[in-house]
Amino acid sequence: DLVPVLLSGGSGTRLWPLSRETHPKQFQPLVGEQSLLQATWQRLAGLPGMAAPIVVANEEHRFMVAEQLRQVGAVPSAIVLEPVGRNTAPAIAVAALQAMEGGRDPLLLVLPSDHVIADAAGFRAAVQEARRGAAEQGSLVTFGIVPTGPETGYGYIKAAPGEAVRAVERFVEKPDLATAQAYVASGDYFWNSGMFLFRASAYLAELEKFAPAMVGAAMAALAGGKRDVDFLRLDRAAFEACPADSIDYAVMEKTDAAAVLPINVGWNDVGSWSALWEIADQDPDGNAHHGDVLALGCRNTLAWGGRRLISLLGLQDVIVVDTDDALLVAARDQVQQVKDIVARLKAEH
Ligand code: GDD
Ligand code: MG
Repeated sequence: DLVPVLLSGGSGTRLWPLSRETHPKQFQPLVGEQSLLQATWQRLAGLPGMAAPIVVANEEHRFMVAEQLRQVGAVPSAIVLEPVGRNTAPAIAVAALQAMEGGRDPLLLVLPSDHVIADAAGFRAAVQEARRGAAEQGSLVTFGIVPTGPETGYGYIKAAPGEAVRAVERFVEKPDLATAQAYVASGDYFWNSGMFLFRASAYLAELEKFAPAMVGAAMAALAGGKRDVDFLRLDRAAFEACPADSIDYAVMEKTDAAAVLPINVGWNDVGSWSALWEIADQDPDGNAHHGDVLALGCRNTLAWGGRRLISLLGLQDVIVVDTDDALLVAARDQVQQVKDIVARLKAEH
């Protein structure tokens, strides 16, 4: 069996002011009618041998998660609620332990709930291929993306020569710009898409090697957890005591069991307003609109509104996002720093 694990605990701060702590980007319809979380579930439809998903989310989002999943007919075996975020390594550990309940040891397909994939059929075919790799070699399989630039917000993967699922020679999470430039220039590196496929026990064994305290804390948080209808509430004290780290730093950089399957399926993690502009419908001058927008003499702009008319005149490479209580106007090449605005606002209020 293949158990999808949907990670829905991030706060998507780089898409502020649309994405907020109370309504992070995975719950929003950024592309099309469905939220990114709903689209993540729907693109799995038709995968053979798929078990009920496990969803791991922040407890504050529990009603939104449950309602959105219900709307698309997803029936999770558990919606695991984190009282606090401890990043992805513990979230996946809890899901792996939960999936192993009753002595099972399924393959897990770990999916961020806030990505866009244009070619769902191609993605499902890749999952089938990764399944064989993970099942036969006991690998932790990542899905590699051919880089389009020296982005510093991604993991970089150097693959050993080979076909299909290849061994990983090196995994470097979020390198600095000079390093990223060298990796991209070498042509030997893929981006880590942030999706993973591995056997539950294989992940836990690697985590146990590099971060045993996390495994202990995840076990304690589940043991002290409470079932509450569809929800599985982790024990607060136990989970608060868990060290925080991402799977990328805690496991993927260190493990010898990593493998990578290169994919070309129109993947985009909508990690910034610029990324959203890239996948949005653009007019011939590269302007993308959401809501009522009039742009004259503009090139390569994104205007995101819906509340009132936005008009832009003679601008290039500018992003405008209008919400009820905040307005963002940013240079397109500075949008990674939107998270700094959020940090400043948090510090001041
Ligand atoms: N349940 C839960 N709890 N989910 C979480 C938590 C948490 O504490 N923190 C993050 N997530 C979810 C996010 O909602 C997102 O769907 C996914 O896990 C990945 O977290 P991000 O915070 O978005 O990671 P990232 O974008 O900085 O980096 C990861 O993704 C990149 C590709 O988009 C890494 O895997 C990189 O190596 C990768 O290149
Ligand atoms: Mg991300």
